[in-house]
Amino acid sequence: MNGLLLLADDVAAVPSIFRPVSPPAESIRYLSILVFAIAAVIFLIVEGILIYCLMRFRHREASEKEPPQIYGSRPIEIAWTAAPILIVVILVLVNARTLWDVTRDPPKPKLGDNTLLVTVVGRQWWWEYRYSSYNGKPLSFVTANELHIPVSNEGVPRPVFLALQSADVYHSFWVPQLAGKTALIPGRTNIMWFQTQTTGLYVGQCAEYCGTQHANMLQRVVADTPSDFEKWLVGQGKPAADDPAVAVGRKEFLSQSCVNCHRIRGIGATGSYAPDLTHLMSRQTLASGMIPNDPEGKNLRAWIADPQEIKPGCLMPSFHLSNDQLASIVNYLRTLQ
Ligand code: CUA
Repeated sequence: MNGLLLLADDVAAVPSIFRPVSPPAESIRYLSILVFAIAAVIFLIVEGILIYCLMRFRHREASEKEPPQIYGSRPIEIAWTAAPILIVVILVLVNARTLWDVTRDPPKPKLGDNTLLVTVVGRQWWWEYRYSSYNGKPLSFVTANELHIPVSNEGVPRPVFLALQSADVYHSFWVPQLAGKTALIPGRTNIMWFQTQTTGLYVGQCAEYCGTQHANMLQRVVADTPSDFEKWLVGQGKPAADDPAVAVGRKEFLSQSCVNCHRIRGIGATGSYAPDLTHLMSRQTLASGMIPNDPEGKNLRAWIADPQEIKPGCLMPSFHLSNDQLASIVNYLRTLQ
């Protein structure tokens, strides 16, 4: 399996800290370029002097005499103590300013503030997104692996605040074009924020080693226009589709161990240990960004048949379902738009 799954229309979504679309990511790019420039100047001066000395004072056949020996020089001592201190002070100040820029406390939800608040729970090896409020209105649905956010318009900022938590071990939330890495630590809540004016897909990756499938704990952030985002919110808030044509598959789903871990709102499947499947087919990928979630359900079927084949070590086992059971469950899940 390759690392970051990019679907056909995602070509522009290669993550890079050098293509920021959000103020925290911009501050971090500025800082990294500044630090690189300072380090480059130091490198050129030190290496330049070194090369000059190697050439100028190299051994020559003509002079067998020892060169003049010098002991100590107060001006030189002062210069090479003061200069590094000055450089360190400058680096401390620009770092402090960047930290200030990227850190912000989430505001209390207030009508008209256009703020989106989401609690992110890191889990081995996927992301749970609990939407808690938008524009002051409470939300109460849960989704997985694909975070939808609204873009800001000129003059109307729509900042996104994430409360980061972990259900098991350390993880790290990192979507390079939006913001820097922030750790998800069991037993504590970290905050991060970003906002962007550019619609599109931003991909990321868990940035803290968290076990076997750390490399496949992928992230997709979809920045929608405000009206698309509000439509998406309304869709996600609804209970699961209830299509009588797939009643057999729903019954099969409810009779299997699926319900111990997965939630589907409205049908009595209330597990909270694995991704919420209420609107499974509204997501572009399966297995935390690893494989496309094709509308025909081909990958979904392969995944349910044996998740260990696709994501070895993941916490969903194969239930050794018969072909009929598999087909009816996949048929049912495919209706969960
Ligand atoms: Cu989660 Cu690495």
